[in-house]
Amino acid sequence: MAGADVLINYNGDREGALETKKRIEEVGGRAEIFKANVAREDEVKAMFEFMMEKFGRLDICVPNSAIQLNANVDDMTLRQWQDVIDVNLTGLFLCAREAVRIFKKQGIDRSVSYAAGKLIFISSVHDIIPWEGHANYASAKGGLMLFMKSLAQEVAHLRIRVNAISPGAIRTPMNVEKLTSPELFERLLLRLIPCKRIGEPEDVAHAAVWLASDQSDYVYGTTIYLDGCMTLYPGFIGAG
Ligand code: BGC
Repeated sequence: MAGADVLINYNGDREGALETKKRIEEVGGRAEIFKANVAREDEVKAMFEFMMEKFGRLDICVPNSAIQLNANVDDMTLRQWQDVIDVNLTGLFLCAREAVRIFKKQGIDRSVSYAAGKLIFISSVHDIIPWEGHANYASAKGGLMLFMKSLAQEVAHLRIRVNAISPGAIRTPMNVEKLTSPELFERLLLRLIPCKRIGEPEDVAHAAVWLASDQSDYVYGTTIYLDGCMTLYPGFIGAG
């Protein structure tokens, strides 16, 4: 445990949120849960209000919502396009906007950190790797990268640090299909992961803790690719 009190947002998975709360409490932390669809402005505002009521301040915000609604472009409905953009891009904008407003108001408290606040977006390797059949997802993640960098540039003078983590294939429910079928696991994952292991949630957590801490105090507008080498053109291995 790194010591932060946590507000856990969920939309559909209340059980998952309660389980996370329990785990935080088991190691002596404080956690609350809140249900908000991050694609909705009023719900995001209500979530930040709830957080300020409960905790009184905000130091670290980790916008990480994402869904996948896969289809080839010629079969993709406007709904499939829009829902993914709304949750994976607009939702992160709405959370970041509220966080920046609070960070600005609070300013720097040297007993907490050198920075006035930290935003850590959870993106994806598909912010730079194109993904056929997932154009809505890759477009949202590509957009998120330049949103993150533009915001980082905009608020750096306030000592608000904005960065991103772009995971590859991580052992999460999103990858359950690829993890349970040995054939898919080999063909889709290991062929694309030169280090030959799936990422664990802890891999992401360790990077997030570092980005949240003063150890990364000079790190602004950076994306950490956490992908077992997936972004380094694995198709070129042995293809020279
Ligand atoms: C997706 C995973 C996928 C990984 C690598 C992530 O953004 O959520 O489903 O395995 O990218 O393609």
